[in-house]
Amino acid sequence: MRFLVTGGAGYIGSHTVLALQAAGHDVVILDNLTTGHAYLVPDGVPFYQGDVGDSSLLEKIFHDYPIDGVLHFAAKSLVGESMQDPGKYFLANTSQSAVLLSAMAKHKIPYFVLSSTAAVYGEPQDVPIPESHPIRPTNPYGLSKHLIEQMLPWFEKVHRMKWMALRYFNVAGADPQGRSGESHDPETHLIPNILKVAQGHRDFVSVFGNDYPTEDGTCIRDYIHVSDLADAHVLAIEALFSGKPSGVCNLGNGQGFSVLSVIESARRVTGHPIPVRIEPRRPGDPAVLVASNAKAVAELGWKPKFTDLSTIVETAWLWQHR
Ligand code: UFG
Repeated sequence: MRFLVTGGAGYIGSHTVLALQAAGHDVVILDNLTTGHAYLVPDGVPFYQGDVGDSSLLEKIFHDYPIDGVLHFAAKSLVGESMQDPGKYFLANTSQSAVLLSAMAKHKIPYFVLSSTAAVYGEPQDVPIPESHPIRPTNPYGLSKHLIEQMLPWFEKVHRMKWMALRYFNVAGADPQGRSGESHDPETHLIPNILKVAQGHRDFVSVFGNDYPTEDGTCIRDYIHVSDLADAHVLAIEALFSGKPSGVCNLGNGQGFSVLSVIESARRVTGHPIPVRIEPRRPGDPAVLVASNAKAVAELGWKPKFTDLSTIVETAWLWQHR
């Protein structure tokens, strides 16, 4: 099959392109390169530079290539930024997705996989968090994604479009073969920031709060390797194709690690002492976010390969060196 991957030159999209190719599928990439990188587009893959909300560009792509389904990664994804500029998130994420879905409907493209987020849940009342957990996003980023999720049943009802919304927990690591990895500017995520200290680019890593109600006082997150996440996307779109029902699905490891334990793991991997500085809590950070991944395992047949935190950190370290 041939799939359009929006945001295919970005961190998660580029790993999914590799996974789709490994599964024998053809890929077309649409990316505006605001946070993606042209060097992450594999040789020979058709690439269009532009916005998902550009309906004439979508017309051109759907005219140039027969497309069986769309995996939609292109988005703004910084919680902090969304708290400062909510409109940017509702426009870039929600409105532009409506343009994409409408173009897909017009061209009768039947399968859609959405890059969604654990941020839709807000402060968890049950941990591990099941998909049935109440939806109470605490920031515009989470809401901008949940609004897309809410559109999808209507496209299914009216246009018979089958869909899956994959809610990611903390995506980390890099392709074990070194073909892709994380590179953001500014970088806000924990693991790349820790590794910048080990590389000598920063003097210390900030720990945002050590007074949370957790064992060591720092936030607990569920780190999922980006290649495992990418494999789940291939399974999701293939599941839709084979007749599985549409729906939402968490993607996480099902295990939580505190900020300090991630730093400790990075010290072992890099051999660097990685000094820390304790700073105030970051607004909007829940104390604990850990997924129930039972649905992905049971219904997609997903088996994460890189569940060990040190392997996740090692692959990120390999990439950061490159
Ligand atoms: N943290 C630090 N220092 C840093 C960076 C982060 O202490 O320099 C802490 C944060 O406060 C948080 C944890 O490390 O407690 C993880 O922070 P990240 O910024 O790496 O990731 P988030 O948990 O904030 O968010 C990520 C994605 C969101 C997604 C969420 C779901 O960026 O899109 O995971 O779990 F919604």
